[in-house]
Amino acid sequence: MEVVIVDSPEQIGVLGAQAVADTVTAKPDAILGLATGSSPLAIYDELGRRVAAGELTLKDCTGFNLDEYVGLPDDHPQRYRNVIEDEFVTKTDIDTANVHGPDGSAADIPAACAAYERAITDAGGVDIQILGIGSDGHIAFNEPGSSLASRTRLKTLTHQTRVDNARFFDDDVDAVPVHCITQGVATIMEARHIVLVAAGRHKAQAVHELVEGPISAMWPATILQMHPNVTVIVDEPAASRLQ
Ligand code: F6R
Repeated sequence: MEVVIVDSPEQIGVLGAQAVADTVTAKPDAILGLATGSSPLAIYDELGRRVAAGELTLKDCTGFNLDEYVGLPDDHPQRYRNVIEDEFVTKTDIDTANVHGPDGSAADIPAACAAYERAITDAGGVDIQILGIGSDGHIAFNEPGSSLASRTRLKTLTHQTRVDNARFFDDDVDAVPVHCITQGVATIMEARHIVLVAAGRHKAQAVHELVEGPISAMWPATILQMHPNVTVIVDEPAASRLQ
């Protein structure tokens, strides 16, 4: 695990985008793993800047989102497929038809989860996975206590995550869905390169556990210590509890 401490959240964007650009330069039809949340936004902005400047193209890439709320209407702005469209797809030249997410409206959720796993495998697996981390150490929606061997599945969000995400629902925690579909911890671990980004003091304990803590399902991100190719990019406040 490589840990890079930078001076500003903007630099997180530049280094994260550079990692994606390196992957796409080596493999123009790379499979990109996409995260929502605030942490990756600077990466998506920087990728958009590079595409607009003609320095990079993602036109042959495919994207797979990490997770999705269950039960939000198709046109809800917080449906993660829509968030990725607004924050990433429209800023770059990736083909929207090649960006996929778990189907949170499926009548048969377990079948949709199995189909999503198959789609990732059939595409050849994720080349570079962008990840955020929850203040409780979750990755995607794998909350504390998630099996480290888990695959894409239905999960119940913890109250803390619903409180954290209420900011995207007019501060109304009751409007935040209770269930989600998330790639499992073991699904994420199959990505060939993982770039985890975090900013702010509220992430400091999670970053400490991720880098220096014992591997435990109670801090799901700690399993990344077992992955051969992880880059952690954090600002000083998020790094403040590292030894
Ligand atoms: C997003 C996701 C979550 C977030 C995490 C951090 O698809 O799966 O795990 O990465 O909750 O969120 P932010 O970046 O908003 O602090």
